[in-house]
Amino acid sequence: MPASSSSPSPLLLALREGTRDCHKALEARLPFFEASFDVAAYSRLIQAYYGFHAPLEARLGAYQEPMRTKTPTLTLDLQALRLSAADIDALPLCQALPAISSEASALGVMYVLEGSTLGGQVLKRAMAERLGLGPANGTGFFDVYGAQTGNYWRSFLDRLGQASATPAAQAATVQAAIETFQCFENWLGQRHVLN
Ligand code: HEM
Repeated sequence: MPASSSSPSPLLLALREGTRDCHKALEARLPFFEASFDVAAYSRLIQAYYGFHAPLEARLGAYQEPMRTKTPTLTLDLQALRLSAADIDALPLCQALPAISSEASALGVMYVLEGSTLGGQVLKRAMAERLGLGPANGTGFFDVYGAQTGNYWRSFLDRLGQASATPAAQAATVQAAIETFQCFENWLGQRHVLN
């Protein structure tokens, strides 16, 4: 998997350490690898992903570079999964989102969203094998940056490396990342798409 060419920044190490358990817990509850997981269940899961990412990306606003916006790809996936524009407009949206009040907290949220493009490569391949879905017909979100996945991750790590190194800023970033995982897991649980 892609890694930064330079050694990991202290902030990246703190993010990994701070969110390791969150990642494990969420991964264990996601149903992608269940024997009974089918296209209908996949569609419900992507609907719930949309309900989290759409309002969260809106809240990130200018903190997130436009090229990283992933909601349009989720919309295309939902269309490929046969949802109409009206169906998509009517999807429930998560209200309990992580607070974003500074560059520091935005970076924590973005760490989770950007990091998920790495695991996305695994999920893209698994969904092709298990469900016969490809990036053009339902799994675009998991390959949102395509061949640029490694480059986008490295450029995000560069931004992390330039972030304020004060203890308060670093703590705010790690806290926001943990909250992002927790809010996402809570939301997916409420939408009944987790194990
Ligand atoms: C079954 C679902 C998932 C699988 C199989 C999975 C798998 C992976 C793998 C293999 C990596 C390591 C990539 C690397 O070292 O280059 C990774 C990293 C990561 N994933 Fe996941 N992931 C899943 C779900 C998620 C979700 C839902 C999120 C967030 C919403 C997420 C966020 C992250 C983050 C933040 C990283 C850390 C990147 C880093 O610091 O190097 N993952 N995931």
